[in-house]
Amino acid sequence: MSKNIKIVGVGSYLPEKILTNLDLQKTVDTSDEWIRTRTGIRERRIAREDQASSDLAVEAAKIALQKASLKPEEIDLILVATITPDMFFPSTACIVQDKLGAKNAAALDISAACSGFIYGLVVSHSLICQGQYKKVLLIAAETLSKITDWEDRSTCVLLGDGAGAVVLAPSDSGKEGLLASTLGAIGSAGNLLYLPGGGSRNPTTHQTVDKKLHYLKMQGNDLFKLAVKSLVEAAENVIQKAKIKPQDIDLFIPHQANIRIINASAKRIGIPMDRVYINVDRYGNTSAASIPIALDEALREGKIKKGDLILLDAFGGGLTWGACLLRW
Ligand code: UT7
Repeated sequence: MSKNIKIVGVGSYLPEKILTNLDLQKTVDTSDEWIRTRTGIRERRIAREDQASSDLAVEAAKIALQKASLKPEEIDLILVATITPDMFFPSTACIVQDKLGAKNAAALDISAACSGFIYGLVVSHSLICQGQYKKVLLIAAETLSKITDWEDRSTCVLLGDGAGAVVLAPSDSGKEGLLASTLGAIGSAGNLLYLPGGGSRNPTTHQTVDKKLHYLKMQGNDLFKLAVKSLVEAAENVIQKAKIKPQDIDLFIPHQANIRIINASAKRIGIPMDRVYINVDRYGNTSAASIPIALDEALREGKIKKGDLILLDAFGGGLTWGACLLRW
């Protein structure tokens, strides 16, 4: 049993290929101006044809392991948050376990869409504090470009590919770790963001492909309102549980879906924009990967110091939502 957890290594990986708004302007009826003003996105990364989510996951994981000074064999649990698994089964976590040579690790995928990293952090915290596992590799990896309808301007301008990873270990110092967390779901709103085809409801046939059921569908407008509400409520929940004030938060790392959602949420929570980490302009919405990618960048940019209070906050398909308040 341990009191809390600590993040001992962080890494991220973004595919090299950059797809700009100007590129998209040439293929769908959209404009750089529309995308920038409605979403804050300028460009996004796109995985190569031969790259699946596990390939991105492995690159991010290798960096996180190196930062943690750990060998893959020392990991006893691998969790991969993704809605773009390499295939239905084996899980992406099992594929990653093999590619890393993490032969002593159990492996499990988490399907909670954009909230997947937050769900994974809460699950890891419980398992580590119960003493079940000591070194957990939590990865969020997405290749949304592979489930995107590139003729649908209402979704294709929003999404991107990438991966982020953290290595978690027990902490008994009483100084660092997860101070408070909350998770939730609104299953009744699942139809706002989903992928209808290919599962046991609509097994893949020529017809499901003709109807484009293998692509992600989104009702952006309805989602927008629920997104702000969920982000604000989740943040207020953890702020209250940890008995802190919004002004105590050193860095707010929200899920990067849309700059307007980020601005509205930060304002309602009461966090000034100079304490909000933003990279949606460069990567678009990378679903579960967005928070760990941002966390890794913020660390590398020196925006996180020992003892800082960090708020992670996400919402996404499911619908799912969740927040974690961390003492670094
Ligand atoms: O990770 C969680 C999942 N996703 C989200 O959080 C997304 C949440 N939603 C959003 O970010 C926004 O709702 C969008 C960015 C998706 C859309 O922005 P909006 O301000 O809600 O626009 P809208 O859907 O109300 O569309 C306004 C207009 C429509 O035209 P009409 O009906 O007013 O003539 C759309 O057809 O903009 C049109 N439109 C576009 N125009 C140019 C939609 N997509 C595009 C586009 N380029 N790419």
